[in-house]
Amino acid sequence: KKKQVILGIETSCDDTGCGIVDTEGILLGEALHSQHLIHLNNGGIIPPLAGDLHRKNIENVVLSALNNANITIEAVDAVATTVKPGLPLSLMIGTKYGKYLCKKYSKPFIPIHHMEAHALTARMIDKSIEFPFLVLLISGGHCLLAIAQKVDKFLLLGESIDDAPGEVFDKMARRMKLKNLPEFATMSGGMAVEVAASKADNPLQYDFKPPMSAYKDCNFSFAGIKNVCLHHLIKEERNKEIGPNEVIPGINNLCASLLLVVTRHLCHRVQRGMEYVARKNLIPPDKQILVVSGGVACNNFITEGLKIICDTMAYKLVRPTPKLCTDNGIMIAWNGVERWNANVGIYENDFDHIESQK
Ligand code: KG4
Ligand code: ZN
Repeated sequence: KKKQVILGIETSCDDTGCGIVDTEGILLGEALHSQHLIHLNNGGIIPPLAGDLHRKNIENVVLSALNNANITIEAVDAVATTVKPGLPLSLMIGTKYGKYLCKKYSKPFIPIHHMEAHALTARMIDKSIEFPFLVLLISGGHCLLAIAQKVDKFLLLGESIDDAPGEVFDKMARRMKLKNLPEFATMSGGMAVEVAASKADNPLQYDFKPPMSAYKDCNFSFAGIKNVCLHHLIKEERNKEIGPNEVIPGINNLCASLLLVVTRHLCHRVQRGMEYVARKNLIPPDKQILVVSGGVACNNFITEGLKIICDTMAYKLVRPTPKLCTDNGIMIAWNGVERWNANVGIYENDFDHIESQK
């Protein structure tokens, strides 16, 4: 059987990504343009600016990925593109460009769901992961626990009823002014909180209670944690009389207390999900795998917590490398490969009507 080549395009948020993967899962080429530093300096993502930057960079990113793979567009067999969910002005750029390439070079178009791509990436690196498996997706925009049953079939067990965990780290890091310390200047909020927390001398200094512990479902909530963190921060600022651009002494302990409660909450809910899976016999007991992905999965403290739950519940924990956990084009290309191999959701020429969706 001839190997096919799939090109993937990602523009759902603030990363312009392109990956090229063949139908055996070999990575042929890649390119990524991150808008991270621009948005960090603006104090958050400004959607029209993100869209403009995607428009400016998309062609170069695709050309660099082709160049990196040492092939031309003619050698590509299909184009996969994230069409949802995400920022509408960002999604639109990738969707338009992907469809344009397909029309111009007569290639099939494979529309991709961003969260499906995050969930399936692990199968590119670890070919032993079979359906069904449990997946926890934690990022700046999402928090969900699901069973991946087929390439295009997910059973949602729980999701955040308010904020995403990465969003809490980003907002709190900004509010703590962590990026005024040179060490943290270019880090994402989540990474800054993790590094600060690793230097704490007392992670229990601040009182946080994991939310929803009495709830019988597998949903998540982070807005309460964010408010308690803000409350502790404001109290410290009052007590310590610091200048407008200074970081409060003791911030490491607050970061550690925050990271600890987020970890405890994630672990509680995942364990509850695993108990539900066992009760309903949704995954064979000898094939239990938890895949954790999304930008927040880069956090080693959180994954160590999840590892303890996995050991207790007889699950194998699989986490893609940080490069594949955060947004990238490779996971979109791989999702295209999964769909190609399963022969689902491939549009030969009738893809004009496929629009990006929030
Ligand atoms: O998956 P991603 O690249 O984009 C979204 O779809 O959101 O995730 C970005 C998020 C940001 O909120 C960032 O603060 C968080 O992932 N993040 C981390 C770490 N590295 C990135 N959160 C916790 N610990 C980290 N080491
Ligand atoms: Zn993402």
